Amino acid sequence: DSKRSQSSRGEEEELISTLHKRQGLNSFNLNLVKYQGFWYADMSLVATTISAQRHFQAQRSDIFVCTAPKTGTTWLKALAFAIVSRTAVDGDSTADPFVSKSPHECLPALEYAETFAPFHRDPRNPLIATHVPFSSLPKSASDSSGCKIVYICRDPKDTFVSMYHFFAKLAASRNMEPVPLNKAFEFFCEGASSFGPYWDHVLGYWKASLYQPDRILFLKYEDMKENTAFHVRKLAEFIGYGFTLEEEGNRVVEKIVRMCSFDHLSNLEVNKNGKIAENTPWEMENKLYFRKGTVNDWENHLTPEMAAHMDLITEKKLSGSGLNL
Ligand code: A3P
Repeated sequence: DSKRSQSSRGEEEELISTLHKRQGLNSFNLNLVKYQGFWYADMSLVATTISAQRHFQAQRSDIFVCTAPKTGTTWLKALAFAIVSRTAVDGDSTADPFVSKSPHECLPALEYAETFAPFHRDPRNPLIATHVPFSSLPKSASDSSGCKIVYICRDPKDTFVSMYHFFAKLAASRNMEPVPLNKAFEFFCEGASSFGPYWDHVLGYWKASLYQPDRILFLKYEDMKENTAFHVRKLAEFIGYGFTLEEEGNRVVEKIVRMCSFDHLSNLEVNKNGKIAENTPWEMENKLYFRKGTVNDWENHLTPEMAAHMDLITEKKLSGSGLNL
């Protein structure tokens, strides 16, 4: 067994060493690495993705929370976790789990898993987060008729603006030069951003959701902002955690909406001063995940020409897909 795992690690290393690399919109000015058509933040992330593809076995009870970075991951993780971890039907049951930990700490992430043999599951929490594109998910997750997948997408212009600020703040926190806005814009439009091309990421999950509507729920950040309670009910129902009449009477949905809101989460001490993945290369200040949390903030950062350029890319990429962004 150990011989086999050594040789498969060897193969993985050999494969990874042949992958294309380039500069792009990414953490710490690292080169992006292309794997199966998408740009990964670094080699180690490709390695865990390959390992997941080879060894991860999805279970019927798994619920994948899939996102491209900066489209509302923190929010969707919080909502999904609040939904599955509510304990009872009485009015006080929605005790706030986010006072002590960031939503990112509430879900294991596929591509950051230390081992897939076995993948560590908490029996009380069926959620697994990932940024991995649909086409690169482990087969058992993308093909199986069992597990559920929820995905959120966002206007590419707002996604870009959010990502630009995120990496600029991250660079500043490490005394590094941020990538200038114009350059960052070019990178993003070329598809050279973490887990990009962004449009391909969205399209992968969109098309899959059309083929497997019972298994894959496709959400939009903008719709969620417009009517959060409606989408919380839809999400809960979809993943098999629908609200009972008693819970509705106790206004549990409204409590969850409030508990996961930008204002509430961003004002918690843990999100103002805490960190995730402390003492690892992926250490991040929680506050980086909360900036404005609004729709159309691109209007404050992009010129009309930039916006038109990106809209054109979006139109071309999504043409004929039935999806509008
Ligand atoms: P902005 O930079 O536009 O403000 P991700 O969680 O995928 O990294 O995305 C981060 C974006 O989601 C940021 O967008 C952030 O402010 C916003 N966000 C974080 N928490 C949110 C919440 N509870 N509700 C709505 N938006 C939220």
